[in-house]
Amino acid sequence: MPEPSPVLQVRDLVVHYPGRTRHDPPVRAVDGVSFDVRPGETLALIGESGCGKSSTATAVLQLRRPDSGSVRFAGRELTTLTDEELRPLRPAFQPVFQDPYGSLNPRRRVRDTIAEPLRVHGRWDPATGPARVAELLEMVGLDASHGARRPGELSGGQQQRVGIARALACEPRLLVLDEPVSALDPSVRAGVLNVLTALQDELGLAYLFISHDLALVRHVAHRVAVMRAGRIVGTGPARTLPATPEHPRTAAKSG
Ligand SMILES: Nc1ncnc2c1ncn2[C@@H]1O[C@H](COP(=O)(O)OP(=O)(O)OP(=O)(O)O)[C@@H](O)[C@H]1O
Ligand SMILES: [Mg+2]
Repeated sequence: MPEPSPVLQVRDLVVHYPGRTRHDPPVRAVDGVSFDVRPGETLALIGESGCGKSSTATAVLQLRRPDSGSVRFAGRELTTLTDEELRPLRPAFQPVFQDPYGSLNPRRRVRDTIAEPLRVHGRWDPATGPARVAELLEMVGLDASHGARRPGELSGGQQQRVGIARALACEPRLLVLDEPVSALDPSVRAGVLNVLTALQDELGLAYLFISHDLALVRHVAHRVAVMRAGRIVGTGPARTLPATPEHPRTAAKSG
C-alpha cells in the first residue's frame, strides 16, 4: 500500500524571540525545522530542555506565528492565512498541553468544557449534543457521570482525559501533544497513553508528540526527530532508540 500523504508538512520553520535586553541578540528558538506527519502516525519530537520543542509546537498550531517557514496542514498553507481565515480550520489541529488543570476552566463542568468547541464553531445541536458529549467521555475512558463534575473534582489523569475529549470534539486530524503525561502521576500515565493509542487506531489521527521521556517515546511513537539548539539533528524509527540512552541527541541516526 502506498503511504498516505502527510497531513502536516513543516518546512524551514523559524521562531525567534527578542533578546532579553535590546543589546542581546534574538533567541533562535527554532532555526529551520522541517518534518512531515502522516495520518495514523506519531512523530515524537525529543531533545533537551530549551532546544525549541514547545516553540515548534506553538508555531505549528499558529498560536504564535512563525517568523518564517511553511506549515501546510491538509494541503493548506497556514502561515499566510489571517486569524479569521484560520478560525474555521483550527478544530482540525488541536493542542493537548502538559498541565491539564491549568488548561481547563475550574468553574466549568466537564460536559460544558467538552461542548465548548462545538458551540464556538457553530456545531452544537441541542438534540444530539449531549449524546456526543457522552460519546466523547466514553472515548477517553470516562464515565458519563463525570460530565457533571468540575475539574477540581477529578484526578490529574481524568483531567487530561477531559482535555483530550475537548480536543476531539470537532473531529481533528492532528493532535499536537506537548508533554501530555509529564505532569501526571506515573501510575496513571499508561492509562492516558493507551487512550491516545486507541484513539489513533480508531480515528487515524496524526500525533506530533513532544516528550523528553525516551522509554515512553519508544513505546508510543512511530518515528522520532531529535532537536538540538533549534534544529533537527536526527530522525529515525522510534524502535531504534536505545532503551536507556545517555545522550538523546545520539539516539537517532542523522537523516
Ligand atoms: N516567550 C518566549 N520569549 C523569549 N524566549 C523564549 C520564549 N519561549 C521560549 N523561549 C526560549 O526559546 C528557547 C526554546 O524554548 P522552548 O520552550 O521551545 O524549549 P523546549 O524544548 O520546549 O524546552 P522544555 O523541554 O524545557 O519544555 C529557550 O531558549 C527558551 O528560553
Ligand atoms: Mg517545552
